[in-house]
Amino acid sequence: MSENLIIAVLAGTTREQRQSIKAARYVAEFGSHLDDVEVIFVDPKDFYFPGDGNDPEGKDARYTEITARADAFFIVTPEYNHSFPGTLKRMLDSELKNYIHKPVAIAGASNGNWGGVRAVEALVLTVREMGLAVTFTSPYFPRVQDTFSDDNRPVEDQKERIDKSIASAYDELIWMAQALKTAREG
Ligand SMILES: Cc1cc2nc3c(=O)[nH]c(=O)nc-3n(C[C@H](O)[C@H](O)[C@H](O)COP(=O)(O)O)c2cc1C
Repeated sequence: MSENLIIAVLAGTTREQRQSIKAARYVAEFGSHLDDVEVIFVDPKDFYFPGDGNDPEGKDARYTEITARADAFFIVTPEYNHSFPGTLKRMLDSELKNYIHKPVAIAGASNGNWGGVRAVEALVLTVREMGLAVTFTSPYFPRVQDTFSDDNRPVEDQKERIDKSIASAYDELIWMAQALKTAREG
């Protein structure tokens, strides 16, 4: 393949004390070391979406540009009340056609033992409606506050498991991204 695949890694929350941002940053850094991949990290804190919906006045032009360029998405969401944060929904809702027939991998994070599995499952319904094609390989980050250090690295005794799960998710995501990019451009 001549061009890099562009993967937008989306963090899921703007909460001041957020722990899942460490997992999201690590997923982005991990992807940036893969061959033929360019990662764009999207921290919702850096974007502004007035109101609701996807009308022109409800968009952030920088997010529009990123989603237009992206060949694939990798969302890292915390679990809030058995779902994903409203911030993430608001950001996703601001676009529509830029997602169609592109793949998305979803990772979950929580402070308990479940790793955000209910947030991931809830998000599957939403991204499907957006025309995204969901991978079935999902990394989970239970006890995320104990799993990553303040410099966004997995703690030593978790690193092998975490790296394996992120690598598997990227493998499937990249395979789908290449296939769907070829199909979209064909
Ligand atoms: C509003 C809110 C609701 C939450 N609901 C859940 C939940 O339903 N299940 C769960 O496992 N953790 C829940 N948590 C805890 C998060 O999993 C925890 O904060 C974790 O660190 C990931 O979120 P963070 O990135 O905001 O820190 C909730 C946290 C917040 C702030």
